[in-house]
Parts: sequence; structure tokens; C-alpha cells
Amino acid sequence: MAEARENAEAKEDEMRLTEAEIAVHWKEEEYYHPTPKFIGQANLTDPAVSERFSEKNFPECFREYADMLTWDKYWTTTLDTSNAPFWKWFVGGKLNVCYNCVDRNLGKYANKAAILWASEDENEPIVALTYQELYVQVNEMAAVLRDFCGLKTGDRVTVHMPMVPQLPVTMLACARLGIIHSVVFGGFSGEACGTRIEDSKSHILITMDGYYRSGKLLDHKAAADIAVKKAESEGHKVEKVLIWRRFRDKSATSTPLVEGRDYIVDDLLKKYRGVIVPPVSMPAEAPLFLMYTSGSTGKPKGCQHSTGGYLAYVTGTSKYIQDIHTTDIYWCMADIGWITGHSYIVYGPLALAATSVMYEGVPTFPDAGRVWRIAERLGVNIFHTSPTSIRMLRKLGPDEPKKYHYDFKSMTTVGEPIEPEAWLWYYHVVGRGKAAITDTWWQTENGGFLCSTKPAMDAMKPGSTGPPVPGIFPVVYDENGKELPPGAGKAGNICIRNPWPGLFQTIWGDPDRFVKQYYVKYNKDPKSKDWRDWPYFAGDGATWAKDGYVRILGRVDDVINVAGHRLGTKELESACLTVPEIAEAAVVPIVDPERGRVPEVYVALKPGIKASDEIAQRVTLAIETTIGKIARPRAVRIVPDMPKTRSGKIMRRVLASISNRMDYGDITTLSNPEVVEQIRVQVQGAGPVKTEKGPEDIRRFGETT
Ligand code: WT7
Repeated sequence: MAEARENAEAKEDEMRLTEAEIAVHWKEEEYYHPTPKFIGQANLTDPAVSERFSEKNFPECFREYADMLTWDKYWTTTLDTSNAPFWKWFVGGKLNVCYNCVDRNLGKYANKAAILWASEDENEPIVALTYQELYVQVNEMAAVLRDFCGLKTGDRVTVHMPMVPQLPVTMLACARLGIIHSVVFGGFSGEACGTRIEDSKSHILITMDGYYRSGKLLDHKAAADIAVKKAESEGHKVEKVLIWRRFRDKSATSTPLVEGRDYIVDDLLKKYRGVIVPPVSMPAEAPLFLMYTSGSTGKPKGCQHSTGGYLAYVTGTSKYIQDIHTTDIYWCMADIGWITGHSYIVYGPLALAATSVMYEGVPTFPDAGRVWRIAERLGVNIFHTSPTSIRMLRKLGPDEPKKYHYDFKSMTTVGEPIEPEAWLWYYHVVGRGKAAITDTWWQTENGGFLCSTKPAMDAMKPGSTGPPVPGIFPVVYDENGKELPPGAGKAGNICIRNPWPGLFQTIWGDPDRFVKQYYVKYNKDPKSKDWRDWPYFAGDGATWAKDGYVRILGRVDDVINVAGHRLGTKELESACLTVPEIAEAAVVPIVDPERGRVPEVYVALKPGIKASDEIAQRVTLAIETTIGKIARPRAVRIVPDMPKTRSGKIMRRVLASISNRMDYGDITTLSNPEVVEQIRVQVQGAGPVKTEKGPEDIRRFGETT
């Protein structure tokens, strides 16, 4: 028994070694350089930036970002580490985020577009909200929240809305009053919204009656009813549901209003016409919003982001990395329901008085030229999207960009590693070989970018995110906490050694989980109040090349990155278990050419139940209704039994290898090794095992935390 374990450990070591070798032998891509024209206009070209943001100037270096904001009261302590690892930034300072994103831009930019919005329906006109118009709408909505809903500073509000201008209006109205918004991605199901409502204890849900998606008008109000019911089933009552209308003069839903609970926002706004609500001056460390993300245990985590630190960080990085000027037309094609949209559609760009573009619908609707038509029509010159969209646009319309007369100066990719092939299409075809690309690596928890090239200063390297951004000091550790320096040629766990202002403050309602998940692994002294003892564990595998560029290999925990967004395995598995016939479920990632990773589901049935397609279909449906279509599995496999360790743990790594036709490695320590071959034959068909190595995140899937 002990021998078997030792054997297994030796095998594991061997595997790690092999990984290292692969990393060493990876083909290094050649460098691409920004054009002189781009450099000539860029915000950040001063080589002194590395000195200003050097470790010896930490944490004071971040004054540079905070000074881009307007403070009601200047702070006294830049970084307070007394309650490690709950860092506090700009302590003593006060400011209002809405004031910084709206009011302060009125002087110079009242009549400049803050938001340009394109409906999915090409016959609908473009909507332009000037800063003045945004100001008026935000104030009226703030009056509704304060006076009609009775909300006050520190209360939570859940917002479940599609990509329409009323979404940032709602967020900014919350921020104006210090109300903590929790925006749930509009594509998530009513049930997923309901659990997030319950967790944040929001008594108000703000939604919209309907919206366009792939040419269909979806009834979104129906999801609100489910959400309220779900929250109620968990013991939490929603008092009011506020419903924005997609159309001025007609309803987009056939779902009836619930008397005394549901209100049409446009009706409420009439009472508050022209009301001005003074912005509430908030402490820098007050929470601004919650953003839920999946972790390796079932429940989604409400990442709590701060007011001053967050806004400073997204403003600074929008200026230096996104290179946003007030004259730019900037389009980040993410959804505001994800952190990318919060930081780089709404808060960062608006704090810089930029023009931020929003698009309601599917990028390839009605055809693969749609994105480039919008870019041409609106004069977009900075474009920001994800590898999954890049792959999809390339697949459906490889030559479409050539047909349109847009002119990008720079472009961004975010959300997952981009393969050099897709990068090169983005660069040559979309960017016409002259737009600088930033590949930005970060996470929901981080507020803003961690690694990226400084677009006018660093060469680009396809497939590598780049060096750390100013003020970020990463380290790559092996499992035992040994440092793997740049050029070590080995893969390890990437951590950030220092706190930074955009880092989230805690997990809403679960500070222990916050410490456990992000700090315990590499913290040597839990009593230490020195930030140097608290490296932030990002949960990504990475290699760090000699030139200082980081290459992200993917998640090291049970999280599946679908189309650039994290889905929790456990959440998917509990959805499967709502189908009464299912005894056990295991979800694993499989490599997908467009979406990066997609889930594949294994289920075992309760005794005496016969497998059928119908059961498999109900499993898929259960996932779609509890989480959303984004989580739809590639396949549902009904298997006789799950491969298990002797202690009864399902070996997801083995299933993941089978799904991806990879070698499943050593299975001698399983309690039922014979089932593995049975499953393999069922999934892959008879014939020899392939011995492909496959990607690191899949080989290690389910091994940690
Ligand atoms: C995970 C975070 C905040 C961005 C939206 C996703 C992966 C993100 C990159 C990149 C390689 C990336 C990581 C990370 N990731 N950006 N440029 N290159 N991987 O936010 O849902 O919190 O997911 O996305 O694995 O941990 P998220």
C-alpha cells in the first residue's frame, strides 16, 4: 500500500519533470513592435515608469493612479497592512465614483458621447448618451433608488440586465449613493441570479423586460420571477423588482407584473424628472460592488471590490495599458456582467472621459461582418475582446475585416490564453499589421490587469501575456514553495507578491474562505503584518521566460474556463444532481477549438435505472436552467460507475484525460481501476490509447484545492 503510494508519487514527479521539459521546448514566438505612429500618440512612453513603479517605491507608486481621480478628501495612509491580508488602500481618503465618472467630466465634455450603443437590430438607430445626458439619467435613477426604494449607503442591489445603456446608468446611480451593486451576467439563468441575490441579501432586483439575442427578442422578465422564487426558497425575500423597458412605447415581455412587487422604471422616473441627487462622499475602502465568480467549491464567491483603490487602479490601467484618450472611441466587446465590463467598459473609460461603445447582441449576428461594421460606423479606434470571440470571428468570416474601413490603433485580448495562430490573425487581418495588441492577464478578483505589455513600450509576443504591469511583482512557485525564477523553464503556480489597489477586499460574507483560498498556500507566518509574507495565489499555472514575459497555462483548480469565463465544476455537478435519476456527477473540461474549454458531463445512475438519451437531455436542461446556456455541456455520458480513489473521491483527472483522448496516467491507486478502461472504450471507442500529452490544465484537473 505504502509502496503503491510512493510509486504514484514518483510517477507524479516524473510527470512534473516532463511538463518542465515541454515548457523549455516550447517554440518561442518572434516579437512584434508597435508602430512609430502609435508610440507618438501614446499615454505611456516614459522609460522612467519602471523606476517610478519599482519595488522600492511601493506602495507610494500607486499615488500616480489615485491622483488621476478627484478626491473630496485626500488620504493619509497609502497602504494599511495592519489587518493582513485584508489590505486597505488610500485610508482616510474620501471620494465618489459616480462623481469621478460623470460630474467631473461635465465641464469640458458635457456634449461628448460617454456611451455609444448599438442595438442588435440594425434597423434601430445608434444611441449616443452624452456626459450631460448620462448625468441627468443617473441622477433620476439615483432618486428612484433613494426615494422610491428607500435604499441607502451600504445596501446591496442585484442587477440582472442585458447590454443596454440603462445598465451603466443603474450602476452609476448605485455608486452615486454608495449602494453596493451586484451585477449578474444577463445570460445567467433566473436560478443562478436567485442564489446570488440570496448571498448578497439584496432586497431589490433591477432587470429589463426583454432584449435581442441572435435575432430573437428574449423574455428576460421571466427570469426575474424565477430569481425571486429561488431566493425565497433559500429564505430570502425580494421586496421590489424594478423593470427597465427595452422599448419606449411597448412591452418586450408577456410575463405579467406582480402587483406590489414589480415596477416599470420608466413610470417611476416620471416622478423624479430633473431631480439632482448629491453624490455621497465615500471612504476609499468602502465596498463599491460585488462580482460573483466561480471557485473550486460549489458556491459562487461574491468578490467585494473597493471604491478608491479599485477606481484608481482601473483608471490608471485604462490610461496606460488601454491607452485611452478623451478623443478615442473605445470598444470593449465584453459583457458588463463580467468584471472586464465593469472595469474596462464602465469605470475606467468613463473616469477618463472616454467614449465607450456598447453592443447589445451576438457578434456574428446577422453575419460575420457585424463587428467590423459597428467599428466602421462608430469610428472605433481601440478594440478589446476575448480569444473565444477572435476564434469565432475568424472561423465565420476570416476575410470580413478587409471589407470595412475602420482604423484600430490598438487592440486587447483577455480571458484565456490565446494561441499564436489566432493572435496572428488578430494582428494581421483585424489590426492590419499596425494596431498594437495587449494580451491582458487578470481575474475577477483582481479589479484590473496584472500582466500585459505596455503597448508603446514593450514588444508583443504572440501567446504570452507579457511582463507584469507597473507596480505588480509576480513570483512563480512550485508546489513546495520553491521559487522558479524567470528563465527557469518550468511551469509553476503564479502568485503576486504584493497587494495592489484593484485587488478585491474579501469574499462577501466569507472572510475565512478569502484567506484560505488566496493566501494560505504560500503564507509562512499567519501572524505577519508584512505584505511580503502574503503572496496572492492566483490559481493559474504559468511559466516565466527569460525576457520577463509570462505565459499563462490555465487554471490549476476545478474551474473550467469557458469562452474566457470561469464556471465552477461543483456548481455544474449539483445542477446534474437535480435530475432525480442521477446518483453521481462529474464535470470535466474538454478542449474546444472556439470556446477554449467546454464542460463534458459524466453521470452514474441510481440503482435499477436504465440509461437513456432522455435522461441525458434532462441533465443538459438542468444545467441550462440552473446556470445558463453558457454552461451547456458538449456531451453527457452515462457511465456504469465513476473512477474513484480508495477514499471515495471521484478522479476527475482520469475522466478529463479520457474525454480529451489523453493518456490517463497511473490508475493503480484507484479502488475500481477496471471501470476506467470500460469508460474509455465507451467514450473513445475500442482501439489503442493515444499518448498525447495535452494541455497542463487538463492534466492537472481536479488535483488541487
Ligand atoms: C482566469 C480569470 C478578468 C478577465 C476575464 C476573466 C484566465 C484571463 C487571460 C489571459 C491567459 C487568462 C486565467 C484567469 N485568463 N486572462 N490574457 N491569458 N489566461 O475573468 O472569469 O475571473 O477568469 O481567466 O486562467 O485565472 P475570470
